[in-house]
Amino acid sequence: MALLEVEDLKVYFPIRGGILGRMVGNVKAVDGVTFSINEGQTVGLVGESGSGKTTTGKAILGLVPIKSGVIRFNGEDITKYIGKNRSPYRKSVQMIFQDVYSSLNSKKRVRDIIAEPLRNFEKLTKAEEQKRVDELLSIVGMSPENAYKYPHEFSGGQRQRIGVARAIALKPKLIVADEPVSALDLSIQAQVLNYLKDIQSELGLSYLFISHDLGVVKHMCETLAIMHNNRFVEFGARNDIYNNPQHIYTKRLIASIPDTDPDKKEENMRRRKEINEEYEMRSESYYEAGSKVYDLTRLTETHFVAMKS
Ligand SMILES: Nc1ncnc2c1ncn2[C@@H]1O[C@H](COP(=O)(O)OP(=O)(O)OP(=O)(O)O)[C@@H](O)[C@H]1O
Ligand SMILES: [Mg+2]
Repeated sequence: MALLEVEDLKVYFPIRGGILGRMVGNVKAVDGVTFSINEGQTVGLVGESGSGKTTTGKAILGLVPIKSGVIRFNGEDITKYIGKNRSPYRKSVQMIFQDVYSSLNSKKRVRDIIAEPLRNFEKLTKAEEQKRVDELLSIVGMSPENAYKYPHEFSGGQRQRIGVARAIALKPKLIVADEPVSALDLSIQAQVLNYLKDIQSELGLSYLFISHDLGVVKHMCETLAIMHNNRFVEFGARNDIYNNPQHIYTKRLIASIPDTDPDKKEENMRRRKEINEEYEMRSESYYEAGSKVYDLTRLTETHFVAMKS
């Protein structure tokens, strides 16, 4: 049994209009996605801005109401915990937020920020709590003095690490890591990614790893979901996606990775042009009317694609 199973998840946000603020429509932020994550596995979630990645992550944490679908964790349907902060489920699943700065309470010291999940779930004495906070800071490579500072006193990279320390405080089983390094310098990116990998093997963690950056995703994830127009266009093992992409959107994404080999520059440019032509000419094989993405169908044991059958 998979650790996390998501079945036909839909999250719609109301659009309100007019002076009365009546509901005039919906944003279909997530419009039917199905996937699973095994224990210890890292699944990458890639796709353009607005495609529904963060919303998928928030739904898994129970932070947004869902329209329909099932989310199972260890076999248990957790949709009943939506909106409840202290459910046992919230101990096992944590999120590293895309926008770290606004996710850290600026009026609280780092010590209180990191201790917050501990205070919600574990009854520790002051001394025990301090010891845990110091340990967590040291795991992310920060010294204990930092516990007494406020978020604005840190660099982006340090704040990101504070977010990581808080996310791992309760030894969760699953972390939704939403663009955990995209705001960081390249040198610090590698450092934080390596932390995430180290604690993964130490704690037996699973990740849903959300990113725009296909290079980062290739390094971190053995399985990938490609999201476009609020649905999955392709899902597969790393090799399937990078070496044998099937959906035109995935092909475009892979072809857009910057060239490292100058000798292949011309060939790659030709390839991109071909893909763009195919996108224009054969779009009905890839998208239904209204640009809706088809349902995923199985190509192999590990590879699924959403194309007209
Ligand atoms: N709370 C909300 N209320 C209304 N609409 C929302 C809300 N949150 C997200 N949306 C809309 O849902 C869609 C998906 O947003 P989401 O944040 O999941 O995208 P994303 O893939 O994470 O994008 P990015 O790469 O820019 O972070 C967007 O059209 C967004 O405007
Ligand atoms: Mg996002």
